[in-house]
Amino acid sequence: MSAAQSVPASALPVLRAENLSKRFGGLNAVQNVSFTHYAGEILAVIGPNGAGKTTLLNLLSGVYRPSTGRLWLQEQDITNAPMERRCHAGLGRAFQIVRPFPEMTVHENVTVGALFGQRGIRLPQAREQAYDLLERTGLAAHADRAAHELTLLQDKRLEVARALATQPRVLLLDEVMAGLRPAEAQEAVELVRGIRDSGISILFIEHIMPVVRDLADRVVVMDQGQVLAEGTYREVTANPQVVAAYLGTEAGLHA
Ligand SMILES: Nc1ncnc2c1ncn2[C@@H]1O[C@H](COP(=O)(O)OP(=O)(O)O)[C@@H](O)[C@H]1O
Ligand SMILES: [Mg+2]
Repeated sequence: MSAAQSVPASALPVLRAENLSKRFGGLNAVQNVSFTHYAGEILAVIGPNGAGKTTLLNLLSGVYRPSTGRLWLQEQDITNAPMERRCHAGLGRAFQIVRPFPEMTVHENVTVGALFGQRGIRLPQAREQAYDLLERTGLAAHADRAAHELTLLQDKRLEVARALATQPRVLLLDEVMAGLRPAEAQEAVELVRGIRDSGISILFIEHIMPVVRDLADRVVVMDQGQVLAEGTYREVTANPQVVAAYLGTEAGLHA
C-alpha cells in the first residue's frame, strides 16, 4: 500500500529550509538545500551514501550551524538557535546511532527525555508521561529493565519514545529502520504512522525503499549535497536523474 498523496492546499509549513549549505573544509556536504515540510506530513529524505542526508539532519537539529542559508520552525527563525532551544520550540530527534543511558531502566530513560525536553515539568509528571509513552511505543512490558538489555528493535522504540518525551511538533528520524528484519521494519512503520496520526509531523532519512514507499507522503532526493528531485515516491523513482544517481551504488534504487 502506498501512502503517497500530494500536499493539501490548506497545509501549513512546519519546517522550512532556504538555501542551507554546510562546508567541511573544501567539501560542500550540503549545498543550497531548500524544502518545506508541511504540518501532518511524513517527508522522506533519500539519496546515495555520502549525499549529505545526515549532515542536513544535523543542520536541522542544531548539531551544526549552516555555512549559509536559513531555517524556520513554524514562524520562528531557528537558523542559529542552540539545540536546547530547538527542542523546546518543538523539534525532536531520534539518532541513527541508538544511545540510551545503558544502566538506567527503560522508564528512567524516557523520564529523562521528558525532564530535559519540556520547560518547567516536574518529576512526577515526567514519570507519568514516560509510562504513557512506553505504552504508545510498545515498551510497557519492559519499563523496569535496564536499557542495555533491549533488542535492537526495542532500542529503536526507546529512542523514539525518548524523542517523543520532548513533545515535538516535528520528529526527525535518521535511518531508524537500519538493521531491522523485514517483520520488525513493518512494526516500526506502523509505529511511525501512529505517531503521525497523533499529530506530529515526521521527517525521516531512510535507505530501505519499501519503507519509503509505504510511509512517505513526499520524498526529497539528495545527491552530492544538493536536492536532485522532490515529489511523491512514484514521481521521484520514475525520474531518470534519480535512477542515474543510484546506479552502481551498493543499495541501488530498488534493492
Ligand atoms: N564532520 C564531518 N567532517 C568532514 N566531512 C564530513 C563530516 N560529516 C560528513 N562529512 C562528509 O560530508 C558528506 C556527506 O556526509 P553525510 O551527511 O554523512 O551523508 P549521508 O548521510 O547522506 O550518507 C560525505 O562526503 C562525508 O564524508
Ligand atoms: Mg547518513
